[in-house]
Amino acid sequence: MSHQTVIVLDFGGQYNQLIARRVRECGVYCEVRPYTTPLAELKAMEPIGFLFTGGPNSVYLEDAPHVDPAIFELGVPVLGICYGCQLMAHTLGGRVTAAQDDAAREYGKTETFYDTACPLFKGLPESGVSWMSHGDYMERVPEGFTLAARSKACPNVAIADVRRGFYGVQYHPEVNHTENGLQMIRNFLYEVCKARGDWTMEDYKRTAVAAIREKVGGGRVLLALSGGVDSSVCAALLAEAVGEQLTCVFVDHGLMRKDEGNEVQTAFQSWAMNFVRVDAEARFLERLAGVTEPERKRKIIGAEFIRVFEEEAKKIGAVDFLAQGTIYPDVIESGAGKAAVIKSHHNVGGLPDHVDFKEIIEPLRLLFKDEVRQLGRELGLPEYLVSRQPFPGPGLAIRVIGDLTKEKLDTLREADAIYRQEIGDAGLAGVIGQYFAVLTNTRSVGVMGDGRTYDYTLALRAVTTSDFMTADWARIPYPVLDRISTRIVNEVPGINRICYDITSKPPATIEWE
Ligand code: XMP
Repeated sequence: MSHQTVIVLDFGGQYNQLIARRVRECGVYCEVRPYTTPLAELKAMEPIGFLFTGGPNSVYLEDAPHVDPAIFELGVPVLGICYGCQLMAHTLGGRVTAAQDDAAREYGKTETFYDTACPLFKGLPESGVSWMSHGDYMERVPEGFTLAARSKACPNVAIADVRRGFYGVQYHPEVNHTENGLQMIRNFLYEVCKARGDWTMEDYKRTAVAAIREKVGGGRVLLALSGGVDSSVCAALLAEAVGEQLTCVFVDHGLMRKDEGNEVQTAFQSWAMNFVRVDAEARFLERLAGVTEPERKRKIIGAEFIRVFEEEAKKIGAVDFLAQGTIYPDVIESGAGKAAVIKSHHNVGGLPDHVDFKEIIEPLRLLFKDEVRQLGRELGLPEYLVSRQPFPGPGLAIRVIGDLTKEKLDTLREADAIYRQEIGDAGLAGVIGQYFAVLTNTRSVGVMGDGRTYDYTLALRAVTTSDFMTADWARIPYPVLDRISTRIVNEVPGINRICYDITSKPPATIEWE
């Protein structure tokens, strides 16, 4: 193997892939393995370090996940996180118990004090907020370990055996809420494991391409390409791996933004693969005629999408693999499953029933959004596709409030294009998470030239957000709003009034429908 490997040993924590992602972010190759993997197998991977993840259990319970104690004899450094820390302490002769009083149980943001002489905290501030989530307490740390960080409630928030390269932290350095957490992981990799930093997205691409080739062999692959970031990168990766064995079906439902359909076609036409664009605008508009209720719009679009896709797939005949651009956050979200349904989001619908395929492949399943974008760049996709903002599956159908017509969609497309152009020209595109125009179904009186108008009101929406679960309205400078408003009412017939949406999420949602 040409690159160094770190193993993330998974004890069932929520953040196992996030840890892996952080390691990759630090330029080190990493694989997640279940804690049940035989030691010989782990050893054969010749890791330069282990990270033990958190997990829902208590180490002192009989059926709690354990490791082969011989893992500590390999001479390979270990960073234990939360459960991983307690497990290491427990296995090496320390004592872990349930915290007796509430004060020793810690959840959430906790002020933490670090010993900066410890290699894990080298070069970092002496205190900062860490993200805790533990109900157990290390009553006695194992021999050879010293205390490396503390909080008000807990004297041993971090422990270290510098000689053997064993470190444990009770908080989660991998989450953003822990200040300097990424730097701590970097210190573990570079100061303790002596990593070279020999892993890049180019390596990732090469490995992914090889893995797809091995899996697909001579088989045929079918992908529904929406033109969004995930499916576009998935298409490019598959095209690179299996070329003509891939067929991408791009269902153009006529609900995309201005020029978007052509942009997708231009980006993919020249690739060595089969690209099918289905012009289904008329069908979708027919189905949606007279429908005003947002959830019904969504359901109709989802169902019609699958129908069109199935019809195209039938023309292609049996395929071996159906590919999907599922990314890691989708995997987490579908796992959660208990949240109330606010909107029935669909990412290019569910699975088609009538497509003849043997297996599903999801080559982006372990990547986070920004890694997907990076991979897209690595594959040579144009920047306008790679950095595209999120766009809902039902498209502009849920941005024309109420009744839909082609004329209204065209009006919205023109206004939205001006809005996006001005935001881009003002240098705000990278700052604002998502921005778009909404054509309301309110009409009002205006005066233009010397005449009366009675036209539609357009709403501008722009939000800053890191996760799209919560969002704040963006403080766009007045001169920029002014320019947008003036241009739209002058250039787009049918609109005579512009409003700016100043609600956050919650209580509003990002989209209007
Ligand atoms: P809301 O409006 O729920 O939106 O605050 C959160 C994010 O999800 C996008 N969104 C959708 N994405 N299918 C999708 O694939 C949908 O039906 C859908 N509805 C909303 C929205 O654009 C925002 O990024």
